[in-house]
Amino acid sequence: MTRAVLDVRLLERGDWHVLRTIRLRALAESPHAFTSPYQREFRWSEHQWRRRVETEDWFVAVDDGHVIGMAALVDCSPHDPHHIESIWVAPTHRNRGVFRALLDGIIEIARRAGLTDLWLWVLEDNRCALRVYERLGFEWTGERQPIRPRHRCRELRLRRRI
Ligand SMILES: CC(C)(COP(=O)(O)OP(=O)(O)OC[C@H]1O[C@@H](n2cnc3c(N)ncnc32)[C@H](O)[C@@H]1OP(=O)(O)O)[C@@H](O)C(=O)NCCC(=O)NCCS
Repeated sequence: MTRAVLDVRLLERGDWHVLRTIRLRALAESPHAFTSPYQREFRWSEHQWRRRVETEDWFVAVDDGHVIGMAALVDCSPHDPHHIESIWVAPTHRNRGVFRALLDGIIEIARRAGLTDLWLWVLEDNRCALRVYERLGFEWTGERQPIRPRHRCRELRLRRRI
């Protein structure tokens, strides 16, 4: 498959509606990949979306004017390192280098901010994403946690030096 020709851009404060549209699309299309259900975020107010776009760095991939991929760089807390979250690429554009391009954009910003590592959590049964992350240089840290108390599925933490 040919590689996608695209722009990667960082959403600005006023782009909350762009974030809402692509995030809800991701949750509807890939519910198995995320721990937050579509019905929960569908009910969020404009205020909640605005807050999210203002407090996290949201990267989107744009192909021919259409947003077809996303990922967020999140500073969880002073004690927790920066994580990449909400990673999603439209099925029409998978395996064409879109996430690689998003990751390149994130790494550029992260390096400028003085970060040396990036982290992410992935559900342990998401074999496709695990293979992609491994291919892009992420390694399992050995950490595993349940997504909810007593929940069967767990997530793994991966790290990549940048
Ligand atoms: C996981 C996901 C984001 C990957 O995005 P993508 O744009 O298809 O990935 P890329 O095309 O940039 O691929 C990156 C590398 O992984 C490889 N790769 C892509 N899909 C793969 C697959 N299914 N199996 C193995 N390797 C794969 C590519 O060959 C590429 O390596 P290369 O550049 O050396 O050839 C996408 O499949 C997706 O949105 N899945 C559903 C949602 C999801 O699972 N999100 C993750 C939540 S943690």
